[in-house]
Amino acid sequence: MMWSVLGVLCATSLTAASTHSLHRPQERSVTTQGSLDTSGRLTKSSGLDETKWLQSRAQAEKLCAKLNATEKASIVTGSMTGLCIEYIAPVESIGFGGLCLQDGPAAIRLADLASVFPAGVTVAATWDKDMMYERGSALAQEFKGKGAHVALGPVAGPLGRTPWGGRNWEGFSPDPFLTGVAMDQTIRAIQSEGVQANAKHIIGNEQETQRKPTVVDGKRVEAYSANIDDRTLHELYLWPFADAVHAGVASVTCAYNRVNSTSACENEYILTDILKGELGFEGYVVSDFFASFSGIEAANAGLDMNQPGPISATDLTESLWGSNLVSAIANGSLSEARLDDMVRRILTPYLYLGQDKDYPSIDPSSQSLFLENFGLLQPGMPTPVGRDVRGNHSRLIRSIGAAGTVLLKNTNNTLPLKNPNNIGVFGNDAPDVSTGLIFPDNGFEIGTVVIGGGSGSGHNSFIVPPLDAIKDRARRTGSTVQYITNNTALAAGITGIYPWPDICLVFLKGWATEGMDLVSLEADYNSTLVVENVASICPKKTVVITHSAGPNTMPWASNPNVVAILAAHYPGEESGNSIVDVLYGDVNPSGRLPYTIANNETDYGVSILNVTGSLAEDSSAWNVNFTEGQFIDYRHFDANEIAPLYEFGFGLSYTTFELASNMSVSKVASSSISPYPAHVNSSLALGGNPNLWKTLVTCSSSVKNTGSVRGAAVVQLYVSLPQDNVPVGTPIRVLRGFEKVPLQPGETKRVSFSLTRRDLSYWDIVAQDWKIPSGEIGVSLGFSSRDLPYKSSVKIL
Ligand SMILES: *[C@@H]1O[C@H](CO)[C@@H](O)[C@H](O)[C@H]1NC(C)=O
Ligand SMILES: *[C@@H]1O[C@H](CO)[C@@H](O)[C@H](O)[C@H]1NC(C)=O
Ligand SMILES: *[C@@H]1O[C@H](CO)[C@@H](O)[C@H](O)[C@H]1NC(C)=O
Ligand SMILES: *[C@@H]1O[C@H](CO)[C@@H](O)[C@H](O)[C@H]1NC(C)=O
Ligand SMILES: *[C@@H]1O[C@H](CO)[C@@H](O)[C@H](O)[C@H]1NC(C)=O
Ligand SMILES: *[C@@H]1O[C@H](CO)[C@@H](O)[C@H](O)[C@H]1NC(C)=O
Ligand SMILES: *[C@@H]1O[C@H](CO)[C@@H](O)[C@H](O)[C@H]1NC(C)=O
Ligand SMILES: *[C@@H]1O[C@H](CO)[C@@H](O)[C@H](O)[C@H]1NC(C)=O
Ligand SMILES: *[C@@H]1O[C@H](CO)[C@@H](O)[C@H](O)[C@H]1NC(C)=O
Ligand SMILES: *[C@@H]1O[C@H](CO)[C@@H](O)[C@H](O)[C@H]1NC(C)=O
Ligand SMILES: *[C@@H]1O[C@H](CO)[C@@H](O)[C@H](O)[C@H]1NC(C)=O
Ligand SMILES: *[C@@H]1O[C@H](CO)[C@@H](O)[C@H](O)[C@H]1NC(C)=O
Repeated sequence: MMWSVLGVLCATSLTAASTHSLHRPQERSVTTQGSLDTSGRLTKSSGLDETKWLQSRAQAEKLCAKLNATEKASIVTGSMTGLCIEYIAPVESIGFGGLCLQDGPAAIRLADLASVFPAGVTVAATWDKDMMYERGSALAQEFKGKGAHVALGPVAGPLGRTPWGGRNWEGFSPDPFLTGVAMDQTIRAIQSEGVQANAKHIIGNEQETQRKPTVVDGKRVEAYSANIDDRTLHELYLWPFADAVHAGVASVTCAYNRVNSTSACENEYILTDILKGELGFEGYVVSDFFASFSGIEAANAGLDMNQPGPISATDLTESLWGSNLVSAIANGSLSEARLDDMVRRILTPYLYLGQDKDYPSIDPSSQSLFLENFGLLQPGMPTPVGRDVRGNHSRLIRSIGAAGTVLLKNTNNTLPLKNPNNIGVFGNDAPDVSTGLIFPDNGFEIGTVVIGGGSGSGHNSFIVPPLDAIKDRARRTGSTVQYITNNTALAAGITGIYPWPDICLVFLKGWATEGMDLVSLEADYNSTLVVENVASICPKKTVVITHSAGPNTMPWASNPNVVAILAAHYPGEESGNSIVDVLYGDVNPSGRLPYTIANNETDYGVSILNVTGSLAEDSSAWNVNFTEGQFIDYRHFDANEIAPLYEFGFGLSYTTFELASNMSVSKVASSSISPYPAHVNSSLALGGNPNLWKTLVTCSSSVKNTGSVRGAAVVQLYVSLPQDNVPVGTPIRVLRGFEKVPLQPGETKRVSFSLTRRDLSYWDIVAQDWKIPSGEIGVSLGFSSRDLPYKSSVKIL
C-alpha cells in the first residue's frame, strides 16, 4: 500500500518537476553467509560454473520464446516505476520478477541502515586479495538484503589515466594488473552471494570534464572522444575488463563518452567486436544513466539494456526503446534475433544466480531516498525505515581502512605513538561532518571525508571521525587532546594551544566526486599553510594524515618538522578507528601506494583536456588523444627517468623485511611454446582465448620479517619484455604479480607467483593477437616499482 502511494507521489512529482533535471546528484551540481573454510576464512568462489551457465542460457532462451515483442522490449528497457536507481519491470507470465539495479561500488547508496565501505582506491592500497574478496562479499550481502539484484560496481574505468580524474577513487589503480586482480576478486565475491556484479564503465571514461554531450546556445556539443590506439586499448584500458569477463561478470556498463568519435554505448567495435567477440562476454551491456543517445543504432551496436529508460532527464515519458523496438522489428531496422539475444543475455545471469527464487523484496527506504536523491523529498512525505543489513561489517571496514593506509614517512620511528600525554589534533578533516551524512556534491568544509561524491558515494548511517576516536583512545591513558579544526584559522596562525603538544596530528582532505575533475592535486583548504603553521609550533613532532582520492602533491613532505606521513585514502565509515589502529600500532601499516606520488604535479605528463572559450562549443575540439599510449603513472616516470616523491608500490612498515637471494624462475612446460596462443573452440571463452590464461612461468622466493614486530610484506613482481624484440611503446617494466605475506618477527615464508601467457605477451596489432616476444624476459622481485633487488630472466622463444 505504502508502495503504491509512494509510487503515485513519485510519478506525480517527477512529472511536475520536469524542469528540475533528473540525474544523479553530482550534476545538481537478510544476509547470506559465505561458506567458511576450516581456517574461518571465506571460501572463494572459483568463478563461473560453465555447465550451469549454459543450462541457464538454454532456460533463458526457452523463456524468451514465450514472450511477444512488447514483453521482450520491456525486459530490455528501464522503467521509472521501481524506485531503484535503475529498474526493469517484472514479466509475471514467465516468472521474471524484474531487476533492481543500485549504485554503487562502495555502498548500496539509496538505502538506510547500510554500510559505507572503503573506496576502491583504498582496497587497492591494501594489496590484499583476501580483503578485496571479503569487501565484495560483505557489500553483496547488503545489496541482496535490500532487494537489489545488480550492484553497479566494481569500476575499472576510469583506470586513472591522469590523477586529476574526478572518479579515479571509485576504481582501484592506474595499473591494469592491480585493477584486474581487484576486479576479479570483487566480482567473484559479489556473485558468490547471488548478486549480479557490473563492470563499469567501458571505455575511456578517464575524465569527467565534458563526459556527456551538452547544449550551449541551442547547439549540441558532443561528449569528448577518447581516441585510443589498439595496443593501448588492449594492454591498458581493456585489460581489467578482460579480468572481469573472465571472472564471469553478469553485466557491463558502457560509458557516457565517445570512443574514436562514436558514443561508447553505440560503439559496435567496442561492444560487439571486442567485448562480446574477442573477450567472449556472455552477459548484458547496460547504458550508464541516460548514456544511450540513440535508439535502434545502440541496439544494433550491442547495447542490451537501456537505463533508466526514458529519452532524457527532461523527457521522462518517452523512450527511444520500449515500443520503438517493436516498431523497429516491424519495419526491419532491428532483427528479432537481436532482441532475443538481448533478452537472453539479461535473463541468463538472473537464472544462473537463482534470483528467480525467493529474492528479497526491494527495501522500503530506497523509495524515499530515491526521491531525496532527486531533490523531491518533501517534508511530511513518508520515510519508512528499512531493513538493517549491516551485520558486523563495520569490523571488516575498520580493518580494510587500516590496511589501506600507506605509511610514507616515519623519521626516527615517530610512529607508532608511544602513549603521548598531550596530543594536538589539527585540520578540518579531523572532526565530524557538520552538514549531514549524505555528502553534498561540492564537498563540505568541516568534517572528515570517508568517501567521495556522486553515484559512488554512500549514505552514511554513522561516521567515526578521527578526532572522536583519538579522544576515546587518549582517555584510556588520561592524555590531553587539544584541537583546532578550522583551516582558515589554522592558515592564519596557531593560537589557543597550551601547553605545546608532545605530538601534532594534522588531518588533511581532498574532495573528489563524479561529474567534476580535480583542479589541484594539493589537499584542500589551504593544506600546505596549515601543515607549515602546525609544524612551526610542533617541530620534529608533526604527523600528517591525508584522506583523499588518490595522489596528492605534498610540498611539505621534506619539511624536517614533518616526521611522519600517512595516506589514508577514503576509508569508509570507521575512519577514525582505522587510523587510531595504525597510529597506536595495533595494526602495523602494510598498505602500499597503488599509484605514484610526484614531486610536482607537472611530472605526471598527462592532464585532462579542458577546452575553454569559444572552442568549447566546437565538438571537434573535444578529442582526448591518448597519445601517451601506455605511459601513464609509473610507466611514464620510469620511461622518462623522473624521480617520484613516493613511487608506485611504496610503503613503510613498523618492521623490516628482506627477500632471499635465491629467487627461482622456471618455465612450466618443457615442450616448445608458440609465440601466439593456439585457438581453441569452446562453448564459453570468458575473458578471451583460454590459452591466454594458462600459466607458462612460475617464480618463487622467500621473504623474512627482520624486525621486531609482526607485519605484512607486499612482495611485487615486475616483468620487462626485451625492448629489442618488441614494438616501441613498451613500458620498461610492468607489475605482473603481488602477494601480501603476514609474518611474525623472525619468520620466513615462501612466496610464489604464476605468470600466464597474457602476462608475458604484448598485443600485436598486425596479427591482432597476443604475442610472446623472443629473447630474455626480465623478472624482478622486490617491495616497490623502484625497490627491486632481485632480477632474473626467462627465455620462452
Ligand atoms: C503481449 O503480451 C502482453 C501480456 O500478455 C499483452 O498484454 C499484449 O497485448 C501482447 N502484445 C501483443 C502485440 O501481442
Ligand atoms: C581508434 O582508431 C585507430 C585509428 O584508426 C585504430 O587504430 C584504433 O584501433 C581505434 N581504437 C578504438 C578503441 O576504436
Ligand atoms: C523504424 O522504426 C524505428 C522505431 O520507431 C524508427 O526509429 C526508424 O526510423 C524506423 N525506420 C524506418 C526505415 O522506418
Ligand atoms: C562476522 O561474523 C561472521 C559470522 O558471525 C564471522 O564469521 C566473521 O568472522 C565476522 N567478521 C568479522 C570481520 O568480524
Ligand atoms: C573559522 O575561522 C575564521 C577565522 O578565524 C572565522 O572567520 C570563521 O568564522 C571560522 N569558521 C567557523 C565555521 O567557525
Ligand atoms: C575547466 O575549465 C573551466 C573554465 O575555465 C574551469 O572553470 C574548470 O575549473 C576547469 N576544470 C578543471 C577540472 O580544471
Ligand atoms: C586560505 O588562507 C587565506 C589566507 O589566510 C584565506 O584568505 C583563504 O580564505 C583561505 N582559504 C581557505 C579555503 O580556507
Ligand atoms: C633523529 O634521530 C637523530 C639521532 O638521534 C637525531 O639527530 C635527529 O635530530 C632526529 N630527527 C628528528 C626529526 O627527530
Ligand atoms: C613544477 O614544475 C613547473 C614546470 O617545471 C614549475 O614551473 C613549477 O614551479 C614547479 N612547481 C613546484 C612546486 O616545484
Ligand atoms: C587529437 O588528434 C587529432 C588528429 O590527429 C588532432 O586533429 C587534434 O588536434 C588532437 N586534439 C588534441 C586536443 O590534441
Ligand atoms: C632460499 O633462502 C631462504 C632464506 O635464506 C631459505 O629459507 C629457503 O629455504 C631457500 N629456498 C630454497 C628453495 O633454497
Ligand atoms: C573450430 O571450429 C571451426 C568451425 O566451427 C573449425 O573450422 C575449426 O577447425 C575448429 N578449430 C579447432 C581447433 O577445433
